[in-house]
Amino acid sequence: MNGMTRRTMLATTFGSAWASAASTPGLTKRPFRYADIEAKIARKDFTGIFKDDLPTPCMVLDKALFDQNLKTMAEHCKRTGIDLRAHCKIHKSTDVAKRQVALGSLGICCATIAEAELMVGAGIKNVLYTCQPAGKNKIWRGILLSKKDPSFMMVADDPITVDLLDEAAATAGIRPIVLIDLYSGLTRAGHATGQPGLELAKRIDSKKNLKFGGVMGYSGGASHTKGWETRREKSVKDIAPVVETAMLCKKAGLNVPLITGGSTGTYNIDKEIGLTELQAGSYVFMDTLYMYVGSKAGTKEYSDFKTSLTVLTTAVSANHRGQVTIDAGNKAMLKPTDEVKGRPEIKVENQGAEYGILKWNDGDGLKLGDKVELYCSNLDTSTNVYDRYYVADGDRIVDVWPIMGRGGAVQR
Ligand SMILES: Cc1ncc(COP(=O)(O)O)c(C=O)c1O
Repeated sequence: MNGMTRRTMLATTFGSAWASAASTPGLTKRPFRYADIEAKIARKDFTGIFKDDLPTPCMVLDKALFDQNLKTMAEHCKRTGIDLRAHCKIHKSTDVAKRQVALGSLGICCATIAEAELMVGAGIKNVLYTCQPAGKNKIWRGILLSKKDPSFMMVADDPITVDLLDEAAATAGIRPIVLIDLYSGLTRAGHATGQPGLELAKRIDSKKNLKFGGVMGYSGGASHTKGWETRREKSVKDIAPVVETAMLCKKAGLNVPLITGGSTGTYNIDKEIGLTELQAGSYVFMDTLYMYVGSKAGTKEYSDFKTSLTVLTTAVSANHRGQVTIDAGNKAMLKPTDEVKGRPEIKVENQGAEYGILKWNDGDGLKLGDKVELYCSNLDTSTNVYDRYYVADGDRIVDVWPIMGRGGAVQR
């Protein structure tokens, strides 16, 4: 050891680290305890864990704002008489889903079969898989979920799917619930409304092995339309034909237990059009895509729900004037439309796979080692690349919730 004993080497290494920790501004004065922190998290002991201890980039959830968002939506639904079946595509977390259900969400909507398996597996009832199961793999996984939990629901926008589901249900000896998914302004999915929609509903209803579950129409175009009045007009245009089709079904003698759709952007519009339930998702966290769609009160900001989720990053290099490099880039889903929490004058640039650049024109800016929190642009894709929500009360970490809805069984 070049004349240095193990003891003196340790003393030199840690001694100088502690000396610099104590004297260098911006460095934590608490010991670094990463392995210790992981062990504490594993046994759900969060005492003494702070944002400053976290590995970056990571996702941090402001618990107070998150709770407030859940409460705002729950109270709105109670007051206006519309049901909520919250969409989990945003959070992919059973911890969040269970809190939504506890506050009155009828069940949970899922965009992928893996999310549906996660939610049903966690014991959540009345899960709605909002994308038609296509192909052998998804059809059978859907059928198996219905077998496990008869309250699980699927949608179909094509007679071919209806026939295949009926066949598979016969083989499995079950009677799954299937809704019709109707075109609502988004050309990605949805059967034609009106008479063709009624025909599709009748087809489901006539199948021996299927139960008709109602009508779905999701207007993704309306949700982010800027300006509340314009958004309302778009929503009416997209959703009124869906509701009319549901009425046609009722007139034809079909039982239509629910007319589902809607989003965070149209939560205070959808009831008057005739939806019986909302599939809102983003309201739990909010992102910069939603921040400026405008409120009913006429403000440019959409402040009905608060941005409770951030990506915590560290400034890892500061050699150029007016900018620092952060440890979040493409792999962390960084986007130039992300925003720096509390520092609107700082702009975000994407540098590459692992790095981003934060730039400012005047003032103090940021230094090496600074922690920066970013509001992400699109929740669905950002939460998809992280494993956890670190739940925070101020700077203190009070819980850790896994994000598990990405893969199927392999991930879980
Ligand atoms: C079918 C469906 N329903 C509901 C939502 C939730 O929308 P939001 O996150 O805008 O509330 C989405 C989002 O993409 C969706 O695809």
